[in-house]
Amino acid sequence: MRHLIDPMDFSIEELEDLFSLADEIIKDQNSFKKVCEDKILATLFYEPSTRTRFSFEVAMLRLGGKVIGFSDPGSSSVMKGESIPDTIRTVGSYVDIIAIRHPKEGAPKYASFYSPVPLINAGDGGHQHPTQTLTDLYTIRKTKGQISNLTIGLCGDLKFGRTVHSLVKAMSRYENIKFILISPKELQIPEYIKTEVLLKKGIPFIEIERLEDVIGTLDILYMTRVQKERFFNEADYIRLKDSYILDNEKLKLANKDLSILHPLPRVNEISYEVDDDPRAVYFQQVKYGMFVRMALIMKLLGVA
Ligand code: CP
Repeated sequence: MRHLIDPMDFSIEELEDLFSLADEIIKDQNSFKKVCEDKILATLFYEPSTRTRFSFEVAMLRLGGKVIGFSDPGSSSVMKGESIPDTIRTVGSYVDIIAIRHPKEGAPKYASFYSPVPLINAGDGGHQHPTQTLTDLYTIRKTKGQISNLTIGLCGDLKFGRTVHSLVKAMSRYENIKFILISPKELQIPEYIKTEVLLKKGIPFIEIERLEDVIGTLDILYMTRVQKERFFNEADYIRLKDSYILDNEKLKLANKDLSILHPLPRVNEISYEVDDDPRAVYFQQVKYGMFVRMALIMKLLGVA
């Protein structure tokens, strides 16, 4: 039995296998509509979500399976003080696979110690978001044809943005990747990502504040929102929330073959006018997330 807790839990070869399965699903969805018909997924979301929860649930439904779960732990016995281990043991005795999102860093890993079925980290606090990373890597592979030889700019809240942490870890395993880390000083990427991933592996990166100074050098621009829910002080959030707003004027400085990704939700950091630019792939990215999660469910359940 395998869980997915960290983006590094799958080797590059396993990821390629997963992405090939997602390709097959996209080509012929009909062939997959019964592969999980006797399986049940539980989505346990202790934090709000639109894409991750719905895409997991729709992924299971499109594979012929069924779904239970909560989007508000207040409607469950968590409100009576039930612990994560007891909740996971209980739900795990009813279902075949669990996806869990939790505001506490490390909660899904802790949950996995008690889970009798495969368990997926659907986002833990400001730490990791491995299935978003699968989505991001698959989107890069689809739009660029490869996940190597790329300069990727990550822009916005690099401190609290868990999707950024997971993506940097995952992309650091591919050939000839260069990171341009664009953020205000207060929202720079955590030190452990720099020391334990980038410096340790000798991966080139620069930290810079102005997007305009580097946008013309990028193959991929990964925009992120400032994570209001992780700030201790509202005044700091208000001061930093509009640090970056990508609009058509700024895009005039970018390459013609730039791909613009965003894990979403968006707040102000990408103007709506950018949505019509062919370089904006964030809504394709949303859809790829569903196919990647279909492939992931199949792999973890051993039906592929
Ligand atoms: N990208 C992402 O995790 O979106 P949700 O918070 O809506 O699930």
